[in-house]
Amino acid sequence: MNNYLSPSILSADFTRLGEQLQAIDAAGAEYVHIDVMDGVFVPSISFGMPVIKSIRPCTSRVFDVHLMIEEPVRYLKEFADCGADIITVHAEACKHLDRTVEAIRELGLRPAVALNPATSLSALDYVLPKLDMVLVMLVNPGFGGQKLIPYTIEKVRELRSLVEKRGLSTNIEVDGGVTLTNVTEILEAGANVIVSGSSIFKGDIFGNTEQFLKLMEK
Ligand code: DX5
Ligand code: ZN
Repeated sequence: MNNYLSPSILSADFTRLGEQLQAIDAAGAEYVHIDVMDGVFVPSISFGMPVIKSIRPCTSRVFDVHLMIEEPVRYLKEFADCGADIITVHAEACKHLDRTVEAIRELGLRPAVALNPATSLSALDYVLPKLDMVLVMLVNPGFGGQKLIPYTIEKVRELRSLVEKRGLSTNIEVDGGVTLTNVTEILEAGANVIVSGSSIFKGDIFGNTEQFLKLMEK
C-alpha cells in the first residue's frame, strides 16, 4: 500500500495560498488537504467553495476535502463542482451515512468517512467496504496546531488489522498533531495517508514537505 502526504492548507498563509500550494506540489506532496468547517459541527469556521474553486488551477494534485460540517449531503454536488477528488464526511455529522457515501460515489468521487477520537470503529462496520478511505482523527477536530491524543494511535492499529481481516485495501488517513517526530510511529501503526498542517506550513514549507516524504518512503 502506497503512502501519501496531504498537507493541510488550514495552516497556510492565505495571502500567499497559490504560491504555498506550488511549494508543496513541487516538493512532491501527492494530496492537498482542505478543511471545511461550518461553526456548528466544529466551533470554528474556515472557508468554502469559492476558495477551493479559486485554488483548483494552482495544482493538479488530489484535492482531499475534509468536511467538518453538519449534514454534508446537502453540499456534495457543490464540492464536486469546485474540484474535490476525495470527500470525507464525519460519521457523527450524517443522519444517513450510507446515503451520503453513495452520493459521493455517484458523483464520481472517492468517499471517505472520518471518526472523531471518541467515536468507536464499530460506526464503520457496515459501510467500510464502500469506502476508499477512513480518516482517523488524532485530535478533536476544529483547529490546527493541537497535540495528538495518545490513545488514537492504538485505534489506527485496530483499524488496520480490521481492514486486513476483512480482505479490504482501505486507505487509512490520520489528521491532527502529526509531526516529523511522531510520523514514523503513526505509519507503523498502519496509517498510509498523512495529514499535516502546522508542521508543514510553519517555517520552510518546501523543506518540511521533503522531510515528511523522506520519512514516508517505503
Ligand atoms: C483539524 C483539521 C486538521 C488540521 C491539522 O480539525 O482537520 O486538518 O489542519 O493541523 P495540524 O497538523 O497542525 O494538527
Ligand atoms: Zn482535516
